[in-house]
Amino acid sequence: MNRILKKTQLSDDVFQLRVAAPLIAAERKPGQFVILQLDSDFGERIPLTIADADAEEGSITLIFQVVGKTTHRLADLHEGDCIVNLLGPLGQPTHIAKFGTVVAVGGGIGVAPLYPITRALRQAGNRIIIIMGARTQRLLILEREMRALADEFILCTDDGSCGRKALVTEPLKELCARVPKPDLVVAIGPPVMMKFCAETTRPFGVPIVVSLNTIMVDGTGMCGGCRVTVGGATRFVCVDGPEFDGHQVDFDNMMQRLSAYKKLEDHAHDQCHLEQEIKRQQEAAS
Ligand code: FAD
Ligand code: FES
Ligand code: MG
Repeated sequence: MNRILKKTQLSDDVFQLRVAAPLIAAERKPGQFVILQLDSDFGERIPLTIADADAEEGSITLIFQVVGKTTHRLADLHEGDCIVNLLGPLGQPTHIAKFGTVVAVGGGIGVAPLYPITRALRQAGNRIIIIMGARTQRLLILEREMRALADEFILCTDDGSCGRKALVTEPLKELCARVPKPDLVVAIGPPVMMKFCAETTRPFGVPIVVSLNTIMVDGTGMCGGCRVTVGGATRFVCVDGPEFDGHQVDFDNMMQRLSAYKKLEDHAHDQCHLEQEIKRQQEAAS
């Protein structure tokens, strides 16, 4: 069983779990993810990136933000509890090579999937410039770990509570205008951030890789839930991705598909809160 070995809270709504999963830990490569399920019968399946792994201990690390019902329920688990189903490693590993100067751009929880990729790119001998962004200081995660990987580190917050008061695209544009320009940009964060990072790099001819966070169900290329259009062709993020050439991705179509179940997701989250409140009151009364 996939037992939770350690649970850490990284910020208000971001948690880190170290989970026993020896086979996945032995096989996984940077850029890959797992799909987990909390109830084997009715629980929905959600993808989470493998942020780190320890093959010797037989464990993987997951870092997730509580945004809805399933992540809320995952955050309620304790050390010693088990995750019923954990499938992986899934997806294509990141193409790691010596590119030269790589700019790694992470927005919000996107820093979690960016971390193992940046580490592997550094180990491959690249010069690493990191741009990390969040809405506000308390939402920043893995700052210490990311700083340790960077030859140059730029921190941005939307409200100026920490680092530069700017969107990540502002320093990204300055870096693209440098001579010599960066050899590669890797951007992971909210779809709108990745879209504008792609638009920022396009006029400079700087290649950009993005990691797409589409809705997934089976994770094996059969349900079509994660369908995206890349360079005019249909691709499945779970088997062809999650990383793609950012200049080729139809982000508008992807964002439209992501919001398709918004009402149902909000309803499920409200129900989850209500059930927890009833349980709390029943426990208090007994
Ligand atoms: P809901 O309220 O159900 O949904 C909130 C939003 O999450 C939705 O509007 C939609 O945009 C997205 N979402 C909902 N259901 C799914 C689903 N089945 N699959 C994918 N997205 C969904 N999040 C992290 O915090 N950490 C990670 O490391 C991480 N890695 C990811 C890697 C991949 C390859 C993908 C595709 C997504 C990743 N995500 C990650 C996003 C994470 O899967 C969603 O936040 C999670 O599914 C939300 O579930 P929920 O029930 O709590 O929220
Ligand atoms: Fe079903 Fe990709 S998640 S096809
Ligand atoms: Mg959900």
